Amino acid sequence: MTIKIKHLFMIGITGLIAMPVVSTSAESEDLIKYRRGVMKAIGGHMSATSLIVRGKVPHKGQLKQHVNAMKMLTNDIPALFPEGSDFGETRAKEAVWEKPEDFGKAANKSNDSITNLLKAVEGGNDSEMLATFKKVGEGCKGCHKDFREKE
Ligand code: HEC
Repeated sequence: MTIKIKHLFMIGITGLIAMPVVSTSAESEDLIKYRRGVMKAIGGHMSATSLIVRGKVPHKGQLKQHVNAMKMLTNDIPALFPEGSDFGETRAKEAVWEKPEDFGKAANKSNDSITNLLKAVEGGNDSEMLATFKKVGEGCKGCHKDFREKE
């Protein structure tokens, strides 16, 4: 009986000590899971946009919603990378947190390029759409080159 009580007591103490440690790492994991999910969503809209703009699928009526979604999802990319979200399954380089100004610039550049694509979509000129779409791709790649580890 005494052994059982002691055992329970120990589990209690261990639980108290272990809890904050577990929740800290879980938080980072969740932040990473969240941003990777958002990036994947951006990637999904990007490939859908690419297929439409290059005339591979007849879904022009849905083009604006994909570009709008990308615009909204990239409005504040740095917010997806809070301090302490570098621990876990991430390909984000340390440079994200070491060079926040450069990271912010890359994020703005990408977001601006999507604004330009949106304008082109609203204008309805195919060659403008293709040209601005290419710039969007360069914006993604530019940031990935500097701030994302290769697989
Ligand atoms: C300002 C920097 C930046 C910009 C701009 C950016 N990304 Fe990313 N992206 C990252 C980083 C950093 C990661 C790695 C995140 C991680 O692993 O935690 C990433 C990851 C991704 C992933 C992989 C998600 C996964 O884990 O499966 C995709 C897909 C992606 N980005 C698509 C895009 C597309 C498409 C654009 C352009 C419209 C874009 N990104 C613009 C920084 C950026």
